[in-house]
Amino acid sequence: MAPTLDLVTSAIGGLAFGGDYNPEQWPREVWPQDIALMQQAGINLVTVGVFAWALLEPTPGSYDFGWLDEVLELLHAGGIAVDLATGTASPPPWFTTDHPQARLVDLRGTVRMHGGRQAFCPSAPAYRDASSGLARALAGRYADHPAVVMWHVNNEYGCHNHQCFCPTSAGAFRDWLQRRYSTLAELNRCWGTSFWSQRYGRWSEIFPPGPVSYDSFANPTQQLDWTRFCSAELLECFRAEASIVRSLARQPVTTNFMSFFRPVDYFSWAPEMDIISNDDYLIAANATPDQLTAMTADLMRSLAGGKPWLLMEHSTSAVNWQPRNPAKVSGQMRRNSLQHIARGADGALFFQWRASQFGAEKFHSALLPHAGTDSARWREVVALGATLRAIAETAGSTPEPAEVGIMFDWNSWWAAELDAHPSIDFSVMESVQKWHRELWRRNVPVDFVGPATPLDGYRLLLLPGLYLIDAATKNRLGRFVEAGGTVLVSYFSGIADENDHIWPGGYPGALRDILGITVEEFNPLLADQTVKLSAFGPGSVWSETARAGSAHVLSQYDSGGSAGSIALSRNDFGCGHAFYVGSELTSAGLSELIATVLATAGISADSMDGVEILTRERGSRRWTFVINHTAEQIQLPISGRDLLESDRDGESVLVPAGGVAVIRLRSGS
Ligand code: GLA
Repeated sequence: MAPTLDLVTSAIGGLAFGGDYNPEQWPREVWPQDIALMQQAGINLVTVGVFAWALLEPTPGSYDFGWLDEVLELLHAGGIAVDLATGTASPPPWFTTDHPQARLVDLRGTVRMHGGRQAFCPSAPAYRDASSGLARALAGRYADHPAVVMWHVNNEYGCHNHQCFCPTSAGAFRDWLQRRYSTLAELNRCWGTSFWSQRYGRWSEIFPPGPVSYDSFANPTQQLDWTRFCSAELLECFRAEASIVRSLARQPVTTNFMSFFRPVDYFSWAPEMDIISNDDYLIAANATPDQLTAMTADLMRSLAGGKPWLLMEHSTSAVNWQPRNPAKVSGQMRRNSLQHIARGADGALFFQWRASQFGAEKFHSALLPHAGTDSARWREVVALGATLRAIAETAGSTPEPAEVGIMFDWNSWWAAELDAHPSIDFSVMESVQKWHRELWRRNVPVDFVGPATPLDGYRLLLLPGLYLIDAATKNRLGRFVEAGGTVLVSYFSGIADENDHIWPGGYPGALRDILGITVEEFNPLLADQTVKLSAFGPGSVWSETARAGSAHVLSQYDSGGSAGSIALSRNDFGCGHAFYVGSELTSAGLSELIATVLATAGISADSMDGVEILTRERGSRRWTFVINHTAEQIQLPISGRDLLESDRDGESVLVPAGGVAVIRLRSGS
C-alpha cells in the first residue's frame, strides 16, 4: 500500500500549517529565531531545500549536507515536521556551464541562459543524471530522519520550461511518437498528413512544431501530440526522482501542482502521487478570484479522488509576479485557507516562511513579513494557526460527495484553442469558470470529471466547451444519459476525436444522438456583436445553423445570420435529459439555464451569494464550514458546536462579516 497523507497528519497531530522555509537565505543566527517564531504561530510543517541545489552540491558530485543536518535537527527539536525537497528544480551555474547542451531552447530557438530558474531541458540526459544523483544522495541521507514526514520532488514542473525545442527534445519526441503509433503509416493517418503535402517517409523527418507555428499553421494533431509529449516528458522527470526516493524512503511522495496549469495534464499525473498537493495564488484581475480559489480546490479534490489533499502554497498577502499585486484585505487569508480546507485540503501551507531581503521574490508576501512581528499580517498568521488547531479534528475527513460534475480534459483544452479555428473569442477556461461560478454561488458541490473518472454517483454533467471527445467518452456519456443522467452541453463541444479529426455527419458528432440536434454550420459573431434570443438571451461570441431532430427548442436566434435556427434545446434520451446551448449567454441567461437544468436533475441549490457552505465527514462525524465573503453578519440555522468564534453549542450559528465558522454537527443532523 502506498503511503498517504494520513501519515503526515497523524505525525503532526492535525491539519498542516506552515510553508516553504529557505534558511539558506539567512545567517545561522536567524535559524533559532525562526524556530521560536514558528512555534509561536503554531507552525507544524515546513518545506525545506526547494532551491538549495547549489548549496547542497557546490561542485559536481560533492555534497555539503552539514547546514541541512543542522536545520533539520533544529526543526525536529522544535517539534516542526519537514516536507523535504529533492532540490532539483533549479540546477546550479556549474551544471549549465558544464552541460550547455542541457539548456532549454525556446520556440524561436533562443537558448535560455542561467540566472533565473528551471533553465534546463526536461529531456536532457545530463539533467536526468544530475537530478537523480541529488535525489539519491538526499533520500539516502534523510530517509530515516525523524523530522522528515514527506518528500517534495522538484517543484512546479514546467512552470518555466514546459517545452524545449532543442535536438535532444526533438529526438525524445520522435521516440514518444514511435511508442504511440508504432508505424509511420499510423502516424500519417492520425496526423492527417495527406493535407498540405505533409506525408512523412522516415521518422527522422519529424520535428517539434517549433518555428512553423508562428509563420504558418502547424499541423493541429502534431501540435496536440507535442503538447501531450511535453506533459509526459515532465512526468518522466518526476518518475525518475520519485522512484529513487521510493526505493530508499518510506514517506509519501508528492510534487506541487499549479492549479489549472495549461501545459501539464494533471489527470494523467495524479495516479503517480502519494499526496495530491497544489499551489494556488489569487489572480487579482480575475472577476471573481474567491470563486477561482474554490474552483481550483474542487479540481484538486477531484484529482485526489475525493480524498484529502494538501495546499502546498498560497500567499498570506500580495504576490510579486502579476502586473499589479494588491495586498489581501483583513480576513481574506483566513477565508482563502478555509475555502481549501472545506474542499478537502488537510492543511494550509504558504510561500514562504520569512520574506526574502533579496532576489526576485523580495516583494512577495510571507508568513513573517518584512515588517516583522509587530504587524497586522503576523497577528493574522498567529490567529490562523490557532484556527487550524481549533479545527484539527477535521483532518482526514472528506467533503460530501458531489452530484454534479464538470467534464474536463486537458487534451480537449489544448485542442480547442489551437489556431485556425472558427473564433478566437471562445476560451475554455472562461467557459469553465462561468459555469462553475453558477454552482459556487448556489453552494452546489461540484467535481471535475476527468477522462477516466467513473460517472457513478453523478446526476448532472456539464460540458462547457468540451471540444475533443473520444469514442470511449462518447459511449460513456450515452450510457449516462440513457440511464437517467442529465447533461448540459455548450457550443464547440463534441466536435473532434482524440486525433483532432472532426466527427462526421454534422456537429456535434460525438453528441448528436443524445442531444437530438444537428448543427450544420458555425456562425461565430464579430467582436462585441450580440444576437437576440427568443429566451435566455441575448447571446454573444457564437451562433450557428442547427436543426432539431428529437430535441425540443427552448430558444431560437431572433436576429443575425442564424435567425430562426435553434439556440437552446432539450432532448429526452433514454431515461435522461440532454440540454444544449449554442451561444454565449449573459450571466443572467446562464443563471436561468443552470437553474432549469439543476431542477431537471433534481439537485437542490441554496443560493446565498458570497457565502460558502460545505460539509466534510468521517464516519458518523460531520463538520459544516461556512465562509462569509460578504460585508454582512449572517445567522444560519445550523445546530452543533461552533469550533471557532464562540466555541459554544447552539441551534444556530452567527458568522461575522468576512468571517468563517466550522460547526461540529450534532450526530444525526
Ligand atoms: C511558486 C513557487 C515558489 C514561489 C511562488 C511565488 O508557487 O513554487 O517557489 O516562486 O510561486 O508565488
